[in-house]
Amino acid sequence: MHYLAKETRYESMLYNRCGRSGIKLPAISLGLWHNFGGVDVYENGRKIIHKAFDAGITHFDLANNYGPPPGSAEHNFGRLLAEDLKPYRDELIISTKAGYYMWPGPYGDFGSRKYLISSLDQSLQRMKLDYVDIFYSHRPDPETPMEETMMALNHLVRQGKALYAGISSYTNEQTRQATEILRQLGTPCLIHQPRYSMLDRWVEDELLHTLDTFGIGCIAFSPLAQGILSDRYLQGIPGDSRAGKPTGFLEPEKITPEILEKVKQLNQVAARRGQSLARMAIAWLLKDPRVTSVLIGASSVEQLDDNLQALNNLQFAAEELQEIDAIINR
Ligand SMILES: NC(=O)c1ccc[n+]([C@@H]2O[C@H](COP(=O)([O-])OP(=O)(O)OC[C@H]3O[C@@H](n4cnc5c(N)ncnc54)[C@H](OP(=O)(O)O)[C@@H]3O)[C@@H](O)[C@H]2O)c1
Repeated sequence: MHYLAKETRYESMLYNRCGRSGIKLPAISLGLWHNFGGVDVYENGRKIIHKAFDAGITHFDLANNYGPPPGSAEHNFGRLLAEDLKPYRDELIISTKAGYYMWPGPYGDFGSRKYLISSLDQSLQRMKLDYVDIFYSHRPDPETPMEETMMALNHLVRQGKALYAGISSYTNEQTRQATEILRQLGTPCLIHQPRYSMLDRWVEDELLHTLDTFGIGCIAFSPLAQGILSDRYLQGIPGDSRAGKPTGFLEPEKITPEILEKVKQLNQVAARRGQSLARMAIAWLLKDPRVTSVLIGASSVEQLDDNLQALNNLQFAAEELQEIDAIINR
């Protein structure tokens, strides 16, 4: 089957400026952490990506270790680019990262210059790309000097192997440090990728303010708390779900009766708004103008369709927000 992108693909998506940069990102981006690896059905992932691009999702997020096995999501995405998306390369923002364990020995983990530079070379080979659009330090490294990690990002941008630099899961203080070093090097920090959802609001303490102050974009990962913030687990744990699959990262123990009680109540608020809970959870993040994009995952085209409809109702009444806060903080 030859893929031809939909002509109307830019008509319904919302694009937000990423901090104070020249780049706009779609309000909803797609991540390939789960469902696109070697253990997954390639054709299913392919359909999801076609649907995403047809709906105006221009940003696809990867990392060296996505799979399983590690590297296979990049490998599959490279195949898909070659077969389907190559004519559209200049319409795409492709990101990858290094920071988690990737290969044995002291050079395949965390934040050394040695690891970041060799890892991006491997990622480019797997995806058969000359460059990625964003390259991230996937997590802070408590042992490597921050200067070394940031100099590696700066080096890769100057080499043209990445167009922009980003950081992920850095604390507020680490973000301030990294931003200052990158600024001195002349490569601004484009974006921060933190975990953020109705069930995990740590970024609201300080980080969002810092990002806003320094003009850095924010792309929120696991907006559905890996699927918990949807109707997925209301009747138990389905065998084909992330919590039910042996390769899924979501531990079933995380889905406690207390969490499920909150999810049921949030589901009722969503129903009153005429939304699924997944849609409401995404809209709830996008209500904050400091959130550039919400980085979702999906195991089917139907889920992606559902999530895209979040954009049809992004407004919250003050009472709704209070009610949601009360449920979350209970
Ligand atoms: N920087 C980092 O350290 C980091 C860490 C984690 C993730 N990420 C990035 O963020 C992306 C998204 O993370 P995530 O996959 O955890 O996000 P998520 O959107 O919170 O969870 C996605 C999962 O929720 C379920 N789901 C999605 N839409 C649904 C719907 N409408 N109704 C019911 N269930 C639905 C699916 O699980 P089922 O499989 O059960 O169907 C899907 O795989 C990743 O792909 C990755 O790019 C980055």
